[in-house]
Formats: sequence, structure tokens, C-alpha cells
Amino acid sequence: SAGNLSDRFNRSLHDLRISVTDRCNFRCTYCMPKEIFTKDYPYLSQNELLSFEEITRLAKIFVLHGVRKIRLTGGEPLLRKNIEDLIAMLADIRTPEGHALDLTLTTNGSLLRKKASALRAAGLKRLTVSLDALDDPIFKSMNDVDFPVGDVLDGIQAASNAGFDQIKINMVVKRGVNDHEIIPMVKYFKNTGHTLRFIEFMDVGDSNAWQAHDVMRTDDIITLLDAAGFPLVPLPAQQLGETAQRFQHQDGSAELGFISSVSHAFCRDCNRARLSTQGMLYTCLFASEGHDLREHLRSTANTVNADEIVANIIRGIWEDRGDRYSELRDIERRASHRKKIEMSYIGG
Ligand code: GTP
Ligand code: 5AD
Ligand code: SF4
Ligand code: SF4
Repeated sequence: SAGNLSDRFNRSLHDLRISVTDRCNFRCTYCMPKEIFTKDYPYLSQNELLSFEEITRLAKIFVLHGVRKIRLTGGEPLLRKNIEDLIAMLADIRTPEGHALDLTLTTNGSLLRKKASALRAAGLKRLTVSLDALDDPIFKSMNDVDFPVGDVLDGIQAASNAGFDQIKINMVVKRGVNDHEIIPMVKYFKNTGHTLRFIEFMDVGDSNAWQAHDVMRTDDIITLLDAAGFPLVPLPAQQLGETAQRFQHQDGSAELGFISSVSHAFCRDCNRARLSTQGMLYTCLFASEGHDLREHLRSTANTVNADEIVANIIRGIWEDRGDRYSELRDIERRASHRKKIEMSYIGG
């Protein structure tokens, strides 16, 4: 039952994004606006979460289906208790060719100063930190919990010291909110060796009051950088289906990336699957319906060929996949009133 999969548009399965908690200590306005994500919001309870054993078991099945990259997300993944134990379990997985996975994690950086060296020691090789501004008042207005930017910068420094192979910085840009931080961010990260990536604000979920007008498009940012004396040269893609278009400063210093899900949809080669904290499998970030893998894990627990059964279910789901939301965004937004899953639940 194992082997590489292909969906309705002939797209393979390469990345698995695993959300390990739906909770976060930030309330970014574009993700978990605090008016909606109050203390009474129905967050998942402990017994609903996949255990580390269940996550690892699923991860191994996905690897047999072609997955080579696993990213841990949330919510804020570093809030999950003993997350370094899960990292160690996933770092032990080998592909059929005997290689380790590309294992990485996206964090808001708030707990990184404390955790960076433990994460590295557990076998995490790369790391992505979300950071939307260097200016403290702007940063605080975006995380909306008064979290100081200095603590995140200290966390990034701790990660550099811990010896990660690569650190990426994700900046979601909202027009009129943090677009004036683009140039300061470029200057700050230019000589750090970290890759700064600009992300177009997306209409994930139904809570963030998305409007096309608030999106700062990639072309606008490139024009802005050029005018400020930071010309860029394009770099070739490294992998089929990657989210970012890659560039480098003309002087050969840092790499930069642009994630243009609104202005240049990248569904055509999208090879990402998403596993929620509860064990629901989603074949698109903008999905409404998932597939309950936890139920299948638990109901086959005493079956000899349990993994094979689960592998076949995943195969069926992937072969039926026809998602391409970002390519259809305008039509979808006009025509459809379906509810979309929230970013904090599905994990970016
Ligand atoms: P790398 O492994 O470093 O390339 O990371 P990544 O870009 O795959 O993942 P990351 O968690 O850094 O995500 C960057 C941004 O891209 C976030 O805003 C994600 O929500 C968004 N993103 C990731 N995958 C997809 C996708 O398949 N579709 C869309 N529309 N956005 C995505
Ligand atoms: N649009 C674009 N990016 C978003 N992220 C969270 N919500 C949104 C949104 N509405 C980003 C986070 C993080 C990554 C996983 O997703 O900033 O870097
Ligand atoms: Fe938390 Fe990340 Fe969402 Fe911000 S974007 S609320 S840090 S999960
Ligand atoms: Fe993939 Fe859906 Fe994103 Fe398109 S919108 S790139 S299909 S996750």
C-alpha cells in the first residue's frame, strides 16, 4: 500500500505540516484576533490531542507515502509540553533510502531563548521565527498581548548560538500596519545569515477580517526595496512546490523570500498535507472539511496490519485531492459561504 501518491492534478505528497497545539500566547490580529479567541473559546482539551506516539506512527506512514519534510506548527508549538521529546522521536525516522527527514518548526519566538538549545539537541536542524516588526509599539500592536520585540530578538540570537543550519524569519505584511517596517527589517537581517521572508496577508479562516486592500503585494515590496537601494536578483527554486520565490541581495549578502499566495498563487505544485492537533488531515490550508485519522488510529490499534489500513486511507484521501483555493480565491470568495478552518487549528 505504500509508495508515492498522486492527486487529481498529479501533485505528489512531500511536506507534512503537523499542528501540535491550537493554543498560542499571542493574539496576532491576522490569526487569532483577541475579540474571538477569548478565554471562553472552545480550545481542544488534553485528551483530544494526538499523543506523541500517535503523531510519530502517522509520520512514519506518511514517509512511506513520500513525505520528506515535516514541519511542526500550532498555535505556538513550543507551548506543547515536552515538545523536544516529539522532535527526538521524529528525528529518528528514516526514509526508505535511509536518510533523516527535513525536520523544522515555525514559532513566534517568545519561548526560544529558553528552548533553543534543547530543540537543537533533540535533533531539530532548521527553524522559522515569525516576526512582523522591529519597532516595539508596532510589534506589540500586532501580537496584541504587549509582548516586547526584544525578547523575540533574544530568542533568535539564542537560536543562532545553538547552531541551527538555517533560520528563517517570517514577516506577514499588512498595508498601513507594518509596511514601514519592511526596510528596517531588511537592514537588520541583511548581514545575519538569516533569510527574511515577506508573506502576503491571507484570508485563512473566517476570523481575521481579511480585505484585499490590506494585502501588501510582492511586486509592491520589490519596488519599495529597489527604490530604497536594495536591488534583488532571483535565485532558482530549490524544490518543486515551495511556498517562497527566492531572491538574494545584489551584493551577495542575505537571501530573501516572498510568499505570494494572493498575487501569485502556488497551488499548481502544492505538495503539502496538514495534520491538526486532533488528528484531522486537511489537503489545503483553506479547507472546510478534514479527515479524521485519529479515529482510524484508535480503532485499528489491535489490528495486525493497522498501519497498512491507515496508509490506504491516506492514499484514498490524497488521490481524491483537487484543492487549489488560492487560484480560485476571487470566485470562491464571491460564490461560497462555507466556513474555513482557522489558522491556529490547522497550523499555517
Ligand atoms: P520552508 O520549509 O522554509 O519553505 O517553509 P514553508 O514556507 O513551507 O513554511 P512556513 O511555516 O514558514 O510558512 C510560510 C507562510 O506560507 C505561512 O504564512 C504559511 O501559512 C504559508 N503557507 C505554507 N504553506 C502554504 C500553502 O500550501 N498554501 C498557502 N496559501 N500558504 C502556505
Ligand atoms: N496570512 C498570512 N500569514 C499568516 N500567518 C498566520 N496567519 C496568517 C495570515 N492570515 C503566518 C504566521 C507564521 C506562519 C506559520 O503563518 O505569521 O509565520
Ligand atoms: Fe500565535 Fe503564530 Fe497565530 Fe500569531 S500567527 S497568533 S504567534 S499562532
Ligand atoms: Fe496548497 Fe491550498 Fe495553499 Fe493552494 S491554497 S497552495 S492548494 S494549501
